[in-house]
Amino acid sequence: QDNDDEGYNEYLYKILVVGDIGTGKTSIIKRFVHNIFSMHYKSTIGVDFALKVINWDPKTEVRLQLWDIAGQERFGSMTRVYYKEAVGAMITFDVTRMSTFEAVAKWKADIDSKVTYGPDDKPIPVVLLANKCDLGKDAFVKTANDMDKYCKDHNFIGWFETSAKDNMNIEKAARFLVEHILKND
Ligand code: GTP
Ligand code: MG
Repeated sequence: QDNDDEGYNEYLYKILVVGDIGTGKTSIIKRFVHNIFSMHYKSTIGVDFALKVINWDPKTEVRLQLWDIAGQERFGSMTRVYYKEAVGAMITFDVTRMSTFEAVAKWKADIDSKVTYGPDDKPIPVVLLANKCDLGKDAFVKTANDMDKYCKDHNFIGWFETSAKDNMNIEKAARFLVEHILKND
């Protein structure tokens, strides 16, 4: 954090974006940062980075350093290194593939066991993204109530139905996460 004489604040936050293979992490980030989308699938190897600058209010700039971690990495040994000093996370699943929702709890447990913040070692805030909502949710039968309860039980700050293709709720979810991080700061 930087505070200058005029009371202008700049924050730099490291945010993790995790979730199973092909759930749309890279697409969500590309939409959020560059406002582009492609149906072409190129799996991430290891980790990629992107920076999103948000003019939060006239006195506050928030820089999000987004760590786009390959879905493959859940089976690797690098996540502890990648998670270091993160202050927030997004976990994605694909509403057309139930197995990717089942993996959400595994990603959450992985994060909670490897990264904390503050002197009390609190878990970092994590938001859940139900992605590819443009494809319809026939395969995903959970109601909004079920999802609220799921978030409570697994300590997510909230969940959003997103689409990188249709640019749905990505900005909203990110802002929601940043609000929680600013509160912690
Ligand atoms: P890994 O890097 O392998 O872990 O995958 P990823 O989670 O980064 O997924 P990626 O963003 O590469 O997307 C995988 C495929 O899903 C691509 O073909 C995307 O075009 C497609 N996709 C991503 N988001 C959406 C979405 O919201 N709607 C639809 N219809 N397709 C999407
Ligand atoms: Mg990717």
